[in-house]
Amino acid sequence: MRLPHGYRLVSLHRIDSTNAEALRRAAEGAPHGTVVLAAEQTAGRGRRGRSWLSAPGNLYMTVLVHPPEGCATAQLSFVAAAALGEAMDRETDFRFKWPNDLLMGGRKIAGILIEADGDAAAVGIGVNAARTPEGVSDIAADLGGREDAATLCVRICGSFDLWYRRWLAEGFGPVRDAWLARAAGLGEIATVQTARGTVSGRFDRLTAEGALVLVDASDGETEIAAGEVFFGRRGCC
Ligand code: BTN
Repeated sequence: MRLPHGYRLVSLHRIDSTNAEALRRAAEGAPHGTVVLAAEQTAGRGRRGRSWLSAPGNLYMTVLVHPPEGCATAQLSFVAAAALGEAMDRETDFRFKWPNDLLMGGRKIAGILIEADGDAAAVGIGVNAARTPEGVSDIAADLGGREDAATLCVRICGSFDLWYRRWLAEGFGPVRDAWLARAAGLGEIATVQTARGTVSGRFDRLTAEGALVLVDASDGETEIAAGEVFFGRRGCC
């Protein structure tokens, strides 16, 4: 299996964060399709300023992209999720959790972090390919080492390239449809913690931009652009 045309792999033993490295390389002129893969991260970054435990064995990768001006960079997390979903082996019964996690049996197996700097965006993907990080087995799971990280990385690059080009050509619709087809909690009650407080309601749909729409008991709608989702009314995930 090979990387898509124009992609170039930078394989590292250890780095602080593949996203940070991809953005450093972008500042030095690295082109679209530069893929930073690391066996280990010493300062892996998660969403909302969290750290991402990054011991050897799991997959830590970043695809550097240079989207055309005017693209909604936030949608890249859904593009990456669609690609990641497609790259999963057929046996894996996963669900997407808004905005950009993959769950298996309700526990997280992968996360996506998009970071932009100027006209470059780092599409960071972490997959618990081999093991569940220490201390989080109540909320996280792993793929049991069915496939090594490098093989999975190449497959993800292949599906990412296809979804990325489809997104540029056709817009967000097909990406959103693929995401909704495997969305966790669609039609169920969800609670979302946002910067402005906590909102509960039925998870009805995604907007054309990727915001989550909750509907309350009086059919009132709330659109949420960023937040942490818990399924159920009381914050159980
Ligand atoms: C999340 O919080 O769910 C997002 C986690 C993203 C982790 C990946 S691992 C590869 C890339 N490099 C980082 O520092 N973070 C992302």
